[in-house]
Amino acid sequence: MPAAFEGETVTRRRLFTGGAMAAGGVASAAFGLPALGFAVGPMFEDETPDRFQDVGPEADFNPQTYVSKVITLVAQDVGEAGKTTIYVRRSDPERDRDKLKQPYVAISTRCAHLGCPVRYVQASERFICPCHGGVYGFDGKVEGGPPVRPLDRFETRVENGRVLVGERFSVNSKLDRHAVRDPSNHLDGIWQYLYPPRPTT
Ligand code: FES
Repeated sequence: MPAAFEGETVTRRRLFTGGAMAAGGVASAAFGLPALGFAVGPMFEDETPDRFQDVGPEADFNPQTYVSKVITLVAQDVGEAGKTTIYVRRSDPERDRDKLKQPYVAISTRCAHLGCPVRYVQASERFICPCHGGVYGFDGKVEGGPPVRPLDRFETRVENGRVLVGERFSVNSKLDRHAVRDPSNHLDGIWQYLYPPRPTT
């Protein structure tokens, strides 16, 4: 082998070059892998509480107006930051002719535009977003402003006279149920295919 002493199978230069590259690779992995783990790891963590949460007795609710309740949205121990306000009312067979067939309507306060908290105004029977003027009707469908889909909802059921609220889901303009999506993700027409769901939105 040129530039090698007799009996050597690798030159000193090649040995040092290989060693330097290996050390560089280890150093890059030491910095890169933790960063990659932090970036990608949350996508595979299920932060959604998998149990139904009690939001009060049936007597607390009626079909004519919404009652605000606070539920835990993030299962991990993040204190108050993991809680959110939702609006709940009893379903009305006359008004709620959708296919969702939930005994109670539980609506998210997260605006479907960019996520600001919406507020229910009983006088107009509408949800109003203070950020960019988004307006939603009594059933959470968009009536004005920039939001691209209705407000998200939560599963509901009744047990022993108590109203329970479960998983969040998103709905399109016909109130068909979809996997939960981020704000600003469309769920109607061709646009819905440009916004596939994330595993843990
Ligand atoms: S965040 Fe609600 S309208 Fe923009």
